[in-house]
Amino acid sequence: MDSSDDEGEEYLFKVVIIGDSAVGKSNLLSRYARNEFNMHSKATIGVEFQTQTMEINGKEVKAQIWDTAGQERFRAVTSAYYRGAVGALVVYDISRTTTFDSVSRWLQELQTHSDTTVARMLVGNKCDLNNIRAVSVEDGKKLAEEHGLFFLETSALDSTNVKTAFQTVIREIY
Ligand code: GTP
Ligand code: MG
Repeated sequence: MDSSDDEGEEYLFKVVIIGDSAVGKSNLLSRYARNEFNMHSKATIGVEFQTQTMEINGKEVKAQIWDTAGQERFRAVTSAYYRGAVGALVVYDISRTTTFDSVSRWLQELQTHSDTTVARMLVGNKCDLNNIRAVSVEDGKKLAEEHGLFFLETSALDSTNVKTAFQTVIREIY
C-alpha cells in the first residue's frame, strides 16, 4: 500500500486477528487501540479495523489491524480478510480448551489464504481467569514452538501483555 506521499508515514502493515468466537479478539483490539474493554461486547459481524501508529527506529510505522467474527455465519469473505496480511494474532481463551484445539485449524486457514510470510503470534487470552484455567502455559508454549510462532498470554481485561503482543508482531514485520 502506498502512503509515501505523506511524509513520516512510510509504512503501512496489515495485521489480522483470528480465533474462535468469544476468545476476546475484539477486546484485545479495543484495549490496544483505544484502551477500552467491554464486559458485554457482542459478537462481531463482518469486519472491523483500526489503524495504530507506532515508532520503530525513529520511523513512523502504521498497522492496520483487522478483526472479524469467530463465528462462521458472521464472517466476511475469507480471502479478502487475509489478502495482503503480513502479521497475524491467533487467539484462544485459556479457560476453554475447545478454543485451543481450534488453533491448528486457524493456522491452516491463514496459510491457505496468505501469499507471503506472515509474522504470527499465538495469544492465550483471558489470563486473568487463572482460577478457571483449562490450558496450561506449557501447552501454549509447546504448540507455538511446534508451529514456529511467538507466544504470549494476555488479558484484555487487565491489559496484561496486550501492547507487547501487537508490538512484537509489528516489529517482526518491520
Ligand atoms: P467474536 O466477535 O464472536 O469472534 O468474539 P471475540 O473473539 O471478538 O470476543 P470478544 O472480544 O467480543 O469477547 C467475548 C467475551 O469475553 C466478552 O464478554 C468479553 O468481555 C470477554 N473477554 C474478552 N477478553 C477478556 C479477558 O482478557 N478476560 C476476561 N475475563 N474476559 C474477556
Ligand atoms: Mg469480535
